[in-house]
Amino acid sequence: MSIRPQKPAPATPAPGKVPMTELAEMKARHQPIVMVTAYDAPGGRLADQGGADLVLVGDSAAMTVLGHDSTVPATMEEMLVLTRAVTRGAVRPLVVADMPFGSFQVSDEDAVRNAIRFVKEAGADAVKIEGAGPMLSRVRAIVGAGIPVMGHVGLTPQSATMLGGYKAQGRSAAKAITLLHDARALEAAGCFALVLEAIPAAVAGRATRELTIPTIGIGAGIDCDGQVLVWHDMLGLYDGRAARFVKRYAEIGDTIRDALAAYADDVRDRRFPEEQHTYSMPDEELALFEAAASEHPEHAEDRR
Ligand code: KIV
Repeated sequence: MSIRPQKPAPATPAPGKVPMTELAEMKARHQPIVMVTAYDAPGGRLADQGGADLVLVGDSAAMTVLGHDSTVPATMEEMLVLTRAVTRGAVRPLVVADMPFGSFQVSDEDAVRNAIRFVKEAGADAVKIEGAGPMLSRVRAIVGAGIPVMGHVGLTPQSATMLGGYKAQGRSAAKAITLLHDARALEAAGCFALVLEAIPAAVAGRATRELTIPTIGIGAGIDCDGQVLVWHDMLGLYDGRAARFVKRYAEIGDTIRDALAAYADDVRDRRFPEEQHTYSMPDEELALFEAAASEHPEHAEDRR
C-alpha cells in the first residue's frame, strides 16, 4: 500500500520522497540522475520500482497516449488528469508536471495560476516549462509562488515550427552561445534543474560544467547530470519514427500485440475462459435454481 498521503499538501514532501535538495547533491557527487516520463498510475509505480529519481508527466502525452501529431494540443485538464494518476503511483520519485502549450505563455499570472493547479489538484512536486527569453519572468513568478520549476531548452517541441521542425539545436557557434546564455539565465531565474534536448554533447557538457543546477539530457550526450527518456519510446510502445537519441530497452508493444492475438484466438476457439476462471455454485442451489427457472415458464415470459 502506498505511504503517500491521499491529498499531499503543497510544499510538504510526502514520506519517502526524494528531497529536492538531493538533486544538487547528486550533481556534486557526480551521481547520475534518472528521469523518465509516465502518464498513469501503473507507469508512476513502475518508474518508482525501476529506480527513477524524477518522473516527468510530459506533454509528450499528447502524442504518446492521446494520439495527436504534436505536443501542442495537450490541455491543462488532460495534463491534470494524467499528473493526478502518476502521483498516485510514484512514491519516491519527484513528479514533475509539464505545463502544456498555452498554459504559461500569456502572462506570469496565468503561469502561476496553472502551476498552482498542478501542485494543489494533482499532487505534482514541480512543473516544467519550455523556453527562455520571455519565459524567464514566468520562471521567477512560479518559483516566487513557492513551486519548483524545471527549465527546458534546445529542441523545445512546443515551438518546433519556429525551430524548423524536430531537429537538433545549437549546432553553430552562435546558436550554441545563445543556448548557453539561456541556460545560465534559467539558472539565475531560479530553475532547480534544466532539460537539454537534442543539442551537441559538447555544448551540453559545457553547460553542465558551468551550471550549479543539474542538467537532464535527452539527446544531449553523456556529460549531462542526468538523462530522461520518453516511456513509449524506450519501451517500444510508440509506432512513429524514433529520434536518434532514443534507446529501446524493451519491445513491450510486440508483447502486448502477441498477448492480445493469443487472447483473441482463445476466445474464438472457445479455449477461454477455463474452469479456473469460472464461478460455480453448490449443487443443491443449482438444482433449486433449475427447478425455479422451470416453474411457470409463462410468467418468466411475462417478465421479459
Ligand atoms: O514532454 C516530454 O516528454 C518532454 C521530455 C522529452 C523532456 O518534455
